[in-house]
Amino acid sequence: MTSEKKYNKGFVILTAIIVAFGGLLFGFDTGVISGALLLIKDDPTLVLGGLEQLPSRTQEWIVSITVLGAAIGALGSGKISDNLGRKKVIIITALVFAIGSVGLGVAGTITELIVWRFIIGIAIGVASYCVPLYISEVSPSHARGALVSINQLAITVGIFASYLVDLGFANFDEGWRWMFLVGLIPSLILFVGMFFLPETPRWLLKRGEEEKARQTVDKIGEPDPEKVMENIRVNLRKENKEESSWSTLTAKWVAPALIIGVGIMFFQQFTGINTIIYYSPTIFEMAGFGLGGENAVYDAILPALPIGFVNVLFTVVAIFLVDRWGRKPLLYLGLSGMILSLVTIGIAFTFFNDNAVALKWMSFTSMIIYIPFFAISLGPIAWLLISEVFPTKIRGLGMSIATMVNWISNFVVANTFLTLGKSITGTMPSPVDPNESIINLGGAFFVYAAVGVIGLIFINRYIPETKGHSLEEIEDHFLKGKHPRDL
Ligand code: BGC
Repeated sequence: MTSEKKYNKGFVILTAIIVAFGGLLFGFDTGVISGALLLIKDDPTLVLGGLEQLPSRTQEWIVSITVLGAAIGALGSGKISDNLGRKKVIIITALVFAIGSVGLGVAGTITELIVWRFIIGIAIGVASYCVPLYISEVSPSHARGALVSINQLAITVGIFASYLVDLGFANFDEGWRWMFLVGLIPSLILFVGMFFLPETPRWLLKRGEEEKARQTVDKIGEPDPEKVMENIRVNLRKENKEESSWSTLTAKWVAPALIIGVGIMFFQQFTGINTIIYYSPTIFEMAGFGLGGENAVYDAILPALPIGFVNVLFTVVAIFLVDRWGRKPLLYLGLSGMILSLVTIGIAFTFFNDNAVALKWMSFTSMIIYIPFFAISLGPIAWLLISEVFPTKIRGLGMSIATMVNWISNFVVANTFLTLGKSITGTMPSPVDPNESIINLGGAFFVYAAVGVIGLIFINRYIPETKGHSLEEIEDHFLKGKHPRDL
């Protein structure tokens, strides 16, 4: 109890909030494109060759190049942040976000847009890995779950904010430029804020910078700073027996951590979250929500708002529950709810496609139910677990591999969603215009539900309950060759 009382709450929370601007930018820059694209594709200054609209393949590239950039950024950032330190890497990333926002805002051609989206993607990848890493390394263990989850909250706030900004500029001439430019504000806050924060004690000790590490531990207000320092030292010494990070990575005792990290990220993405985050206007349109008329762009963005809002709200709930209930109960509950709602979306499209009203409301309700279940489970907990299970020496490398798996899986899902639906359940008459045929998305949702069922088994077999354990205890457990489930 004393440890909970004594640590410097204000400092730790403020630190987590500043760093979480990296998460906010991750959310903002992935979300903003959903609305911006609607304006870009019709912008006569960008569309060349006498075409009225940007070909859909080019549109797909504008969306997905960022996710690819993020995969590359995530892979590279492990090594860089182990060498340069977490703090410097986040500062550089903030700068890239800032330059990228301006680059996108003033882009004159589609090629420029794609190049800047790729560059922003690299920054997103680095942030998606570096922010939870930093927060976990400055958090006292009893509050680590909640503090690391602030990052997920920031991602959802970023997504919601991007929907709002999209809506605000939807009726502006070349409004997409403003949508991107708004990203400059959080980039600058992150850039400036980071100069006031310390490097993490774990990284400093690894570098042999005892004095500075001690200062940071004192700032965090750990009740027994010497014990914290000693725990980190002991773990570093143990790991130093290994030759290099890569050889540690292939060490037998590290295998469970890798399986957990890679597996949880696979399941986070292959249960379909970003089909809803990136495509909800498309899905709503296919389900028969009339999106058209004068305010077509505005109307298409509007239904995404409740999705974005519920996502934020339930991430807050997760933050309260994650260190109380623990990770596993939330994962079971959340994933089960996700599976059920995925099945109902699938049923709506497959069996109620001749009943426009049922299709419309069943799919909408299921999506609105799916989001909170994701937000209390795989959303925050996947990122949290990968910040907890890797040993200090390869934490950077291990997390970046898991993060890269997250982005590659995201890319695969986002790029196959429509094709998957079409190849399994074919097409159906459009609820808006029965003479028109549209893709039946039902098949895709059944696949994500099936993946979710395998995910439940995975959680049961491999996921440890890390609640209340220090990073050193978790590492020790693996070092002794014990099964993750027995933690
Ligand atoms: C996922 C993102 C997703 C977001 C939605 C994150 O945890 O990694 O892919 O868009 O949650 O809130």
